[in-house]
Amino acid sequence: MSTQPLRVLITGASSGIGEALAEGYARRGARVFAAGRSQDKLQLLAARLAPATVIPLIMDVTDETSVAAAASRMGADTGALDLVIHAAGDCRYIDDGALEPTVMRAMLETNVMGAVHLLTSMRPLLAAGRDPWIYLVSSAAIHFPFPRAEAYGASKAALSYLARSLRTDWEPYGISVGLIEPGFVDTPLTRRNDFAMPTLLPVADAAARIMRGIDHKRYEIRFPLRLMAMLRWLQHLPLTVQRAAARRMRR
Ligand SMILES: NC(=O)c1ccc[n+]([C@@H]2O[C@H](COP(=O)([O-])OP(=O)(O)OC[C@H]3O[C@@H](n4cnc5c(N)ncnc54)[C@H](OP(=O)(O)O)[C@@H]3O)[C@@H](O)[C@H]2O)c1
Repeated sequence: MSTQPLRVLITGASSGIGEALAEGYARRGARVFAAGRSQDKLQLLAARLAPATVIPLIMDVTDETSVAAAASRMGADTGALDLVIHAAGDCRYIDDGALEPTVMRAMLETNVMGAVHLLTSMRPLLAAGRDPWIYLVSSAAIHFPFPRAEAYGASKAALSYLARSLRTDWEPYGISVGLIEPGFVDTPLTRRNDFAMPTLLPVADAAARIMRGIDHKRYEIRFPLRLMAMLRWLQHLPLTVQRAAARRMRR
């Protein structure tokens, strides 16, 4: 068995779920590339955790060139990646049913095209890794048509589809594609929300559940169970009842 540390890339590592995952893998002794746009936050994270093994990586996922440059940097450093967790993402809601193209475009650029840039640039590094996995962080929100979530929900639904479809096409190349669909997690992203978030989880708890799922090589990681059960139950109710529930969430 190899004694080389796990080579991990975590996007969105400057905040929230990505930051907690970077911390979790650094504590296990992995070599962690911690990616995001906020250089100051990533440097603080590396300094706090383990400057020798946590490497800040500036990367804007909406910019293909920036992602390719980050891949070159990791290639020169480790030559391969064993695990990628793509947690970078953004959430914006629409108001009064005004489907602003700028909001829609921003969600698709960050949440969908960002993943496409990452997948294409990281593929050679993953192909050179040991039992390589890439996980895309989508959202449990895709399982119910929440009001105001047209842009975010559509982008995450596209991301979940992308992960599940690519899983089959990358299998012959030895790269496993996993999907993570968290419920509400207490992070700077959800602290902007002005509505009730049932089953809200502390970020450390969410990261621990994700790491457990990855340890068990689960292709699909969804949590918490109580929220997932609620969403599944809603999906099986008559459409009139589902619509009444959605209407109650409208403000
Ligand atoms: N929190 C929840 O309840 C929840 C639930 C379901 C799914 N999710 C998903 O989980 C992921 C992490 O969310 P979070 O709650 O941890 O949010 P967060 O605290 O706001 O963190 C988002 C991260 O994404 C990075 N990011 C955003 N745009 C980027 C870009 N263009 N290029 C590179 N990095 C970018 C940010 O870093 P920089 O600003 O430094 O670039 C930040 O590190 C997201 O995909 C989110 O949709 C969250």
